[in-house]
Amino acid sequence: MKRIILVMGAKGMLGRDLMNLLQTSLSNDEIIGWDIEEIDIQKEGDVATKVGKLRPHIVVHLAAYTNVDGCELDEEKAFAINAEGTKHVALASASCRAKVVYLSTDYVFDGNKREPYLENESPQPLNVYGRSKLKGEQYVQDLVKDGLIIRTQWLYGRHGNNFVTSILQQAREKRVLSIVNDQIGSPTYAMDVAEAISVLIQFGAQGIFHVANSDLCTWYTFGQAILKLSGMDKVRVIPISSKDLGRPAVRPPYSVLNCQKLKKEMGLTLRPWTEALKDFLNAHRLTIGRLGSQGR
Ligand SMILES: NC(=O)c1ccc[n+]([C@@H]2O[C@H](COP(=O)([O-])OP(=O)(O)OC[C@H]3O[C@@H](n4cnc5c(N)ncnc54)[C@H](OP(=O)(O)O)[C@@H]3O)[C@@H](O)[C@H]2O)c1
Repeated sequence: MKRIILVMGAKGMLGRDLMNLLQTSLSNDEIIGWDIEEIDIQKEGDVATKVGKLRPHIVVHLAAYTNVDGCELDEEKAFAINAEGTKHVALASASCRAKVVYLSTDYVFDGNKREPYLENESPQPLNVYGRSKLKGEQYVQDLVKDGLIIRTQWLYGRHGNNFVTSILQQAREKRVLSIVNDQIGSPTYAMDVAEAISVLIQFGAQGIFHVANSDLCTWYTFGQAILKLSGMDKVRVIPISSKDLGRPAVRPPYSVLNCQKLKKEMGLTLRPWTEALKDFLNAHRLTIGRLGSQGR
């Protein structure tokens, strides 16, 4: 049977990679992508009507307000989109018995541990973004029968602004970069998460899964690796503390996700972040040779 798979947030960083991938990996299904132009998830009536009319079998819900500091400064907007918006998606999906796949975040944890977080550990978000996404998780758990919640972290990819593109941009303009060295996580390539989502859908997975590239680092180490692999390692990098950076939203100091459940139940382990980063840089011709000529 040909299923209808609706991706919401299809024009975002992960959404674009996921759309491309699903069109190949689930080529027997019909893949439909909607973003804010097609549907504003804040509008409950519109979501109910449009989803009800399409009657998808699976809704992959990526739509979110993802600006972490923006969320801190505008809590109302963060909750209206990430929490209430998700409630609208969950209700509309439940009424046509569609499965919901919801993307969530490592920022649901406070990061005060020094061991990777398991799916069943108690979330304790430190910031508004984390709290709003956690509320979204709760709506999915409460309103949808066989919901799948995928927590991922530190995403970068080909589309949209992200840490990798920002570091490369800054390195072209400055000789010295200051990067925080007191937050630990696993940088994760959107393409790899897209593949994991596809596998989880094919297995009919439900419940919570952590999905991230293997190994961990700080943003500082990640920044150094980006510069080195791009032949721009003459740019000096200074480690600073989160306090020095003074961002509005507090970030967890250690938010590494334990992805053993993905390995145990799906036989899937995402490659080390360094390998994924090399692939990303190569794939987009941000290679040593090309950038070397622009490097300092
Ligand atoms: N990026 C990360 O590091 C990270 C980490 C963990 C989890 N996640 C989760 O993974 C998912 C995808 O992340 P991403 O980085 O790909 O995010 P993204 O690039 O910001 O994409 C989100 C998409 O949702 C759209 N959107 C915003 N408000 C909407 C609304 N009211 N109605 C419908 N669509 C709306 C956005 O449109 P506009 O661009 O026009 O606002 C954007 O196209 C999100 O659920 C996010 O919380 C991301």
